[in-house]
Amino acid sequence: MKLKLILTVLMVVSSTVTSDDYVRPQPRKTIHLPWDSKLSSFPQQVHVSLAGDKHMRVTWINDDKSAPSVVEYGKLSGRYDAISEGETTSYSYLLYSSGKIHHAVIGPLEDNSVYFYRCGGQGPELQLKTPPAQFPISFAVAGDLGQTGWTKSTLDHIEQCKYDVHLLPGDLSYADYLQNRWDTFGRLVQPLASARPWMVTQGNHEVEKIPLLKDGFVSYNSRWKMPFEESGSSSNLYYSFEVAGVHIIMLGSYADYNVYSNQYKWLKEDLSKVDRKKTPWLLALFHVPWYNSNKAHQGEGGDMMEAMEPLLYDARVDLVLAGHVHAYERSKRVYNGRLDPCGAVHITIGDGGNREGLAAEYITPQPMWSEFREASFGHGELKIVNSSHAFWSWHRNDDDEPVKSDDIWLTSLVNSGCVDQKTS
Ligand SMILES: *[C@@H]1O[C@H](CO)[C@@H](O)[C@H](O)[C@H]1NC(C)=O
Repeated sequence: MKLKLILTVLMVVSSTVTSDDYVRPQPRKTIHLPWDSKLSSFPQQVHVSLAGDKHMRVTWINDDKSAPSVVEYGKLSGRYDAISEGETTSYSYLLYSSGKIHHAVIGPLEDNSVYFYRCGGQGPELQLKTPPAQFPISFAVAGDLGQTGWTKSTLDHIEQCKYDVHLLPGDLSYADYLQNRWDTFGRLVQPLASARPWMVTQGNHEVEKIPLLKDGFVSYNSRWKMPFEESGSSSNLYYSFEVAGVHIIMLGSYADYNVYSNQYKWLKEDLSKVDRKKTPWLLALFHVPWYNSNKAHQGEGGDMMEAMEPLLYDARVDLVLAGHVHAYERSKRVYNGRLDPCGAVHITIGDGGNREGLAAEYITPQPMWSEFREASFGHGELKIVNSSHAFWSWHRNDDDEPVKSDDIWLTSLVNSGCVDQKTS
């Protein structure tokens, strides 16, 4: 009798201790953007990305086949003293025909400066800020965005924070074959993506392959051209770039990655060129996480990890950012499944707010390498302070307020005695 009472009390206590006081939010509906179709030549879906040293690529879409593909820009509002001509593309997908997609590279641009620009010789004046040439530099990070009420919430929070470059580890629009949803996504993100460079890599929702009818990545590659040519890659699905003192590798979870693949060869070559004196920080992004203790997508990254983790480890990658799992998780320094002071910290941040909702079930017990995990929507901020220190924080969308829920100071491997013995 007494024993039963004690047991009951224990059970009540343990259930109150383990229950979370935070109420997990429900998925939110896809939002519908009102769109009054302006003139067919009106530039829309403007976004910018880094395109080699001191250059940026401006991308926009319009419906006028004869509109010029030019970007006028300058450091004073309304006074454009430079002009760049771009290239254009378009694609069709079943019954859908895209507008005219323009990509124009502008530069050389001064670092850490605001530029005013206008696309296609008309339309509204926009502004962008170029990233700094030196530390500190700040990145906003959010994957698996989609275009729901939660996406809007995440984007609003990112807009409030001070950052230089947006990093997106895959799954952008969740168009899922409905091509006009790529257009609505482009309009949704324009306020942010036209003001700061957005550097993206592909997720499974970018594939959109139809066997015998359509190759993969038709829409993604047409609309989100990244600096792959500038970084010696032959595919838009993987590339690298450098900004301030950071070398960032964007890998493709949905491109071949085995040791005989072009991606593997390119990665090896790219890593061999990294100069840690110039870029003390080395980051990698891809969609499917290698270290994931969520039940969703469990083990999916295993093959890629087996092929490529040794390369990243030998090169002393500091931090890996992934998406795919709709939740947040941060690892300790890890390599080959074991804690390793010279391994990377792996962060899964696939919680931008897409319509599929959260992945709330975790494997128990929590693996040794897993330091923090939680299923909530939100975004991350990475502030690299100097060559040795960076501050990472994760901000949960708590009732539409950004609430900092996890943070950590990271020390670069260059300054942890991990790189010295290597000739880099
Ligand atoms: C780098 O930043 C950290 C954190 O602000 C600081 O403690 C450290 O002294 C800085 N190092 C250098 C070399 O400035």
